[in-house]
Amino acid sequence: MTDPAARDWLRWPHEPDRARFGYGADYNPEQWPREVWEEDLRLMRRAGVNIVTLGVFSWSRLQPGPDTWDFGWLDEIMDRLHENGIAVDLATATASPPAWLTTAHPEVLPVTRTGETVWPGARQHWRPTSPVFRRYALALTTALAERYGGHPSLAAWHVSNELGCHNAHDYSDDAAAAFRAWLRGRYATIDGLNHAWATDFWSQRYTDWDQVLPPRLAASHVNPTQQLDFARFSSDALRDHLRAEREILRRHTPDIPVTTNFMVMGHVQEMNYADWAHEVDFVSNDHYVRPDPTGADELSFSANLTGGLARGRPWYLMEHSTSAVNWRAVNPPKAPGELARDSLLHVAHGADAVCYFQWRQSAAGAEKYHSAMVPHAGSDSRVFRDVAELGRVLAEDLAEVAGTRRSPARAALVFDWESRWAVRRDSLPSSLLNVHTEALDWYTAFLDLGVRVDVVPTDADWEEYDLVVAPLLHLLPGATARRLDDYVAGGGHLVTTYFSGIVDENDHVHLGGYPGPLRDLLGLSIEEFAPLPEGARVTLDDGATGTLWSDRITVTSPETEVLTRYADGPLAGGAASTRRAVPGGGSAAYVSTRLDDEHRVALLRRLTREAGVDSELPEDLRGRVEATVRAGEDAAYLFLTNRTDEPVKLDELSGTPLTGADVTGEEAPVLRPRGTTVLRVPVADVAR
Ligand code: GLA
Ligand code: GLA
Repeated sequence: MTDPAARDWLRWPHEPDRARFGYGADYNPEQWPREVWEEDLRLMRRAGVNIVTLGVFSWSRLQPGPDTWDFGWLDEIMDRLHENGIAVDLATATASPPAWLTTAHPEVLPVTRTGETVWPGARQHWRPTSPVFRRYALALTTALAERYGGHPSLAAWHVSNELGCHNAHDYSDDAAAAFRAWLRGRYATIDGLNHAWATDFWSQRYTDWDQVLPPRLAASHVNPTQQLDFARFSSDALRDHLRAEREILRRHTPDIPVTTNFMVMGHVQEMNYADWAHEVDFVSNDHYVRPDPTGADELSFSANLTGGLARGRPWYLMEHSTSAVNWRAVNPPKAPGELARDSLLHVAHGADAVCYFQWRQSAAGAEKYHSAMVPHAGSDSRVFRDVAELGRVLAEDLAEVAGTRRSPARAALVFDWESRWAVRRDSLPSSLLNVHTEALDWYTAFLDLGVRVDVVPTDADWEEYDLVVAPLLHLLPGATARRLDDYVAGGGHLVTTYFSGIVDENDHVHLGGYPGPLRDLLGLSIEEFAPLPEGARVTLDDGATGTLWSDRITVTSPETEVLTRYADGPLAGGAASTRRAVPGGGSAAYVSTRLDDEHRVALLRRLTREAGVDSELPEDLRGRVEATVRAGEDAAYLFLTNRTDEPVKLDELSGTPLTGADVTGEEAPVLRPRGTTVLRVPVADVAR
């Protein structure tokens, strides 16, 4: 048996024992003639590329017909990469089925909610529940595992690509059959399902499993628990595909780690990565920064959560962009400095591989206007020079940082996938709620205060933290509610917000006043929600404005302090935010509206202080820079990212700058606008 720990990071074929940052891209040589391959290899060496992801969309080239295979070109490029010191993250190539397969078996194509077939012509047109698709995909996976399992360049296996990016929900008959099987596994009896789905509502009671369907187009709101279970099922169906490919790969190559690229904060929010993170040998993520002034904060949030999913272990930034993408309405290039800043901010949160989509910008096809490491202009270009410089920084300036781990913060922000699903559904008190936005708001408040925070999934060990912020924790099973009780009883400080603790795992309301299982903990009870229409505001007695939501709150415990009250509107005089200090030193705070940024920061400042969680930054740097810490055995590394467009003087910080800061004479190092610097500091100074 192989020790699973041996698989928890890349197998580096050249010098296996030296820690280093991976640097590279998706590489699609099949789009180019042979002479370009030689230039590719030359330029990869110049850029410091040491790993590429190969074969992601190569199925139609590798298997031109059901019984014909063409591995010659892949053999050749694998060999050439190896000779050039470049490792390969080899895709199983199953992401996009070839035309011969979908022509012979149109029953592998997904079907939409409204019954339309998703035809070939783009990519990822397959149903995860199709036995026919599964058979062909596993045959290809087996063929690749057999042929390349022993190839010296192989560093990792890459299952499919962005599973669920375009096929997260399939409503076909295959899906219906698999959904029923999944429901039988969950509820055992049809009565169990009737209870969970509350089917006495609107005459939905089932008497036979065959009557149960995916939530296809219906006359009005489809049963909410049916929708929630379909979201769970759809995530599990894709996860099963991941498992099926992974098992073949593990059987053939027990020592080679298996990963697949997540889209943790992507526009597709259907895969429960908190759950999927347990299925891969190491976590990989794709992230595309928003081209707006808050983009870097959102990037940091995504990187931070990816680090949380990786549970402190190294993770792989599988894709990001060197400059523009091609899929937003307008796609501006990155400004000078942003390429390095974006990459290093992921490294700051524990990424040990920094890769792009893609190596060479395509000349044709749907992504020809998407940036790459080698742009249309060629290597004599700003993008390529920046790419090569970053390759140098990772290999030289930051060499000693590779293999170190992100140090835990003292505060955690809980991100809950099932609440995200439950809150974005129809038939709710408000359709304006968004778990991602609310979590990002609180994250930004932490950045503004200069207080480090770890974004973690609900099943993480948040009991380790002094302060836990769990915004919009809407779906709250009894077991999680008890964890919150225990956490606060043990001295922890909890902050939660509006519309939290409202339903159980079946999406049934906790009765007797909201938020059912949190009422005693918070020392309050809510009789009625009062969501606010778009654009409407309410004023609080400290001058704050609230949007989106308000609650009619009754304070029920003498230990509950009212922090702010509503100052106008129908709730005037009522509590808007509260904090209950419990015997034993812990506390539980509640915020009933979406505060404006300034007052959210002010409230969080107070709550962090009361929890004894302080900024580790000198006063004048708080909010202007983001700080994270990675620690090794001999040294720790303080990553500082400039959140402003001005240079920031690092006056009061000691430590040796390894990269990204300008040092002149005796002057303090200066962090460039939008730049990231890394200071080497003694472990004792920063690590928890
Ligand atoms: C995703 C896909 C890539 C490519 C990029 C473009 O990340 O995995 O194949 O389409 O988007 O941004
Ligand atoms: C209609 C229907 C009711 C109920 C209400 C909700 O009046 O007849 O069953 O759905 O709408 O407003």
